[in-house]
Amino acid sequence: METRHAPAAKRDIAHRLEEARERTRLLLSTVSDEKLASQHAEYMSPLIWDYGHIGNYEELWLLNEAFGKTLSDRELFDIYDASIHPREERPSLDMLDREDAAKYLDAVRDSVLSELEEADLANGERLLRDGFVYKMILQHEAQHNETMLQTLDLMDGKYEPKEKVELPEGTPPDEDTAFIPGGTFIMGTDDEAWALDNERNAHEVEVPDFRMDAAAVTNRAYIEFVEDGGYEKKKLWKPEGWDWKVEKKVKAPSHWYHKESHDWWTKLFGFDEPLDLDAPVMHVSHHEAEAFARWAGKRLPTEAEWEKAASWNPETETTTGLFPWGDESPTPEHANLDHLAFRPAKSGTYPKGASAYGVLGMVGDVWEWTNTEFHPYPGFESFPYREYSEVFFGEGYRVLRGGSFATRPNAIRNTFRNWDHPYRRQLFVGFRCVE
Ligand code: AVJ
Ligand code: FE
Repeated sequence: METRHAPAAKRDIAHRLEEARERTRLLLSTVSDEKLASQHAEYMSPLIWDYGHIGNYEELWLLNEAFGKTLSDRELFDIYDASIHPREERPSLDMLDREDAAKYLDAVRDSVLSELEEADLANGERLLRDGFVYKMILQHEAQHNETMLQTLDLMDGKYEPKEKVELPEGTPPDEDTAFIPGGTFIMGTDDEAWALDNERNAHEVEVPDFRMDAAAVTNRAYIEFVEDGGYEKKKLWKPEGWDWKVEKKVKAPSHWYHKESHDWWTKLFGFDEPLDLDAPVMHVSHHEAEAFARWAGKRLPTEAEWEKAASWNPETETTTGLFPWGDESPTPEHANLDHLAFRPAKSGTYPKGASAYGVLGMVGDVWEWTNTEFHPYPGFESFPYREYSEVFFGEGYRVLRGGSFATRPNAIRNTFRNWDHPYRRQLFVGFRCVE
């Protein structure tokens, strides 16, 4: 049985790996060597570090750990180890330049693909079973594509992409909110093929009745908050958020500014444009999202509320599968999960991507802040390494859900958990509220 299916499964993995690499190279192809090597914000790596790190992570996990093979010397493993070198140190490391990194990534990949042909993915060790380690490095490359896009969006000057895709024109949702009746649902997963360690184990969670915004909060709504003096009203902010806002002199989302007229403009990948009023607000911190929610008489969802609204089917009393609409791989009609769009679509654009409760745009467009701190689920075991999730638990990080336009389809699902500091705004992140 297994052997009969194995070639197709292996071709699928090889194909996804190729596609991921094409995207990595496409993104970097129009960036100058100088811009690749410099640091554009102290909390981001130089792009050339991301590039080499993608290959080194693949060598470490796939070749060294899964197959006991090594291509390069120890020095590279030090340079590209994220836990040895904090981001501010990375520009001074002796990194591979574009050409050498390209050769290195190719050499690792050739070896990875030839190991794949021989690999027994059906039996044996957990790292290889069902191709987990291949799926892990695939998701890792996709995650670094997203970090690279954040850097490209922050960088001075215009980022000229080699290719771009057009987004559909959206129509706003019929209903403003969706009702999610109280009761238990299954949160997380026991999957060991695609899921990362922090998504396990599946466990029952009780969630009381709530209403959730049918689509992400728009720029139009957020401008009302700004113009109503939302940033000056201390009572709307948690003390930590207020202190952050005062210290950083924050008056609007990151990337926003005023042109001569009083209209709001934004910079997207270095290009100036008037804000799209119907698009989700983006580049806000958790603090700002919280203050908006309080101003609107609402609050941010808990992580459990978010996942239930995205993934539970009350008719069948099971989860919808990988995505809000089911197990079908995302198409451009389901969600905006194509970083070549370089922006979120208008809020509520994708009726085909609705969850069983009729909530729109849970996956793609912008990450969504939840008000839950990043903690392990019951039964959590770190796998295959502590530095993926475990070292970040209980450190004040907030959970983000749903992915953005910059997230590759391989690297997002209903159960996927992302996290960041509540004051970070470089992510393609917005939010929705509940009441
Ligand atoms: C899960 C997105 C927080 O980018 O720091 C990349 C993913 N882990 N390389 C990050 C990750 C190792 C991680 N996040
Ligand atoms: Fe990494």
